[in-house]
Amino acid sequence: MLPFHDPVAEDFTQVNELIIRQLHSDVPMVENIGHYLIEAGGKRLRPLLVLLVARALNYQGTHHLDLAAIIEFIHSATLLHDDVVDMSSLRRGRPTANAEWGNAPSVLVGDFLYSRSFQMMVNIGNMDVMAILSDTTNIIAEGEVQQLINAKDPDLTEDDYRDVIRKKTAVLFAAACEVAAAIAGADTATRQALNDYGLDVGLAFQLVDDALDYRGDTETLGKNVGDDLAEGKPTLPLIYAMSHSAPAEREIIRQAIQNGDASKLPEIVAIVEATGAMEYTLQAARDAVSRALTKLETLPPSRFRQAMQELAEFALARDH
Ligand code: IPE
Ligand code: IPE
Ligand code: MG
Ligand code: MG
Repeated sequence: MLPFHDPVAEDFTQVNELIIRQLHSDVPMVENIGHYLIEAGGKRLRPLLVLLVARALNYQGTHHLDLAAIIEFIHSATLLHDDVVDMSSLRRGRPTANAEWGNAPSVLVGDFLYSRSFQMMVNIGNMDVMAILSDTTNIIAEGEVQQLINAKDPDLTEDDYRDVIRKKTAVLFAAACEVAAAIAGADTATRQALNDYGLDVGLAFQLVDDALDYRGDTETLGKNVGDDLAEGKPTLPLIYAMSHSAPAEREIIRQAIQNGDASKLPEIVAIVEATGAMEYTLQAARDAVSRALTKLETLPPSRFRQAMQELAEFALARDH
């Protein structure tokens, strides 16, 4: 268990129980796939953010538990869909749902989780929460489509890449923080600061995720290293390496992106390291975390705020 769970350990146990209860369906396949993915674990960073922000703002109700489960359902739905689109075969150290059951069941159970999360949201009955989460899920969907369009395009710019990671990943971290602030009745400035914190943690998280695809270890990561290259995803390590390498090296990367071909992964890893592209990507993540930490100063000091700092630092230092 990661140390930043400790201040919200009791809430966290309740959230995990709620998640299991809310997976209920009369259709066995829905439950089987839902349990399969959710019981494989995952780091649960987004629900933790909900709990930590709510507690840091001294929230006394119980809606933070529902919101934490809702956010994890949305995340899980996007993973089910993402693994189909990315044709990934490993997730959380297990074969993906699409590898076990096929694409159609994965997409449909992803839809079930999405709509279950909206049923739970309606029960909370807070229009601010509805607005934040409906906007967020819409942006995530748009980000995934944008990424699909960008695949196999070696001319993608860093700005285009940043736009995609903000949409597909960072906005959910931001929403996790902001919905907790909203139910705690925080003022607009605090809500904005927490949204900003979440957004930057999410950006750092995805930058590191994209770095780990070239530097990580499949076993530790629980998903396959090199998947991004196999899909021809022009992520920052490649974008930077292409603009800082000799023509011959640049051509190797361009071809790999255009063809979605991971056969030259070891050579490309060497180019990414030699051009400083790995360092550049990790520095971008460090910058995002530094910005996130300054936003935390809007919260009163507490062990919850301290845990939010540790979570942001984990987003950088993580190997899984
Ligand atoms: C995976 O997120 C998807 C990305 C945004 C990179 P996580 O790495 O948080 O996934 P789990 O929930 O811990 O498996
Ligand atoms: C994050 O992108 C996916 C979502 C936001 C759903 P990735 O495609 O990089 O995530 P992984 O590497 O499959 O976990
Ligand atoms: Mg993926
Ligand atoms: Mg990835």
